[in-house]
Amino acid sequence: MSSAQWCVVALLGLGVGWMVGVAGGTATAAEEAPPAEMAVEGRRLYARHCSHCHGIRMVNPGNSSFDLRRFPQDDKARFLTSVTKGKNTMPAWGDMLQAEEIERIWAYVLTGGKS
Ligand code: HEC
Repeated sequence: MSSAQWCVVALLGLGVGWMVGVAGGTATAAEEAPPAEMAVEGRRLYARHCSHCHGIRMVNPGNSSFDLRRFPQDDKARFLTSVTKGKNTMPAWGDMLQAEEIERIWAYVLTGGKS
């Protein structure tokens, strides 16, 4: 990794730290949103950013992308890492989506595509 890239990583770290600090101080609307609403928003984000590879309503279109309906629901940490950093041909979303947007997509994944 070049020093420029390290710099970006460091800045991202600062940004996340700041967001955690802010969220910890005053609860944001996002945190207060009930899971169902999170999932609805997540479904919208999924449709925009993920469905062309992972399929409409997470029904795998027959390519090599992961069938997200079968993603282990007790492994949120893996989801967050894979989505943020990418995995093999799966693009990294850390620069494209905010942490809370990825949280919403996770809420949608937990519905198994039924909502
Ligand atoms: C350009 C196509 C593409 C897009 C767009 C895409 N993915 Fe993926 N995704 C893949 C592929 C291919 C894999 C399988 C990667 C592997 O295991 O080799 C994958 C795997 C995954 C996995 C499983 C990772 C693991 O830990 O095994 C998750 C979770 C995931 N994608 C979530 C998402 C989410 C959420 C979005 C939208 C923000 C998204 N993907 C958008 C192609 C894509």
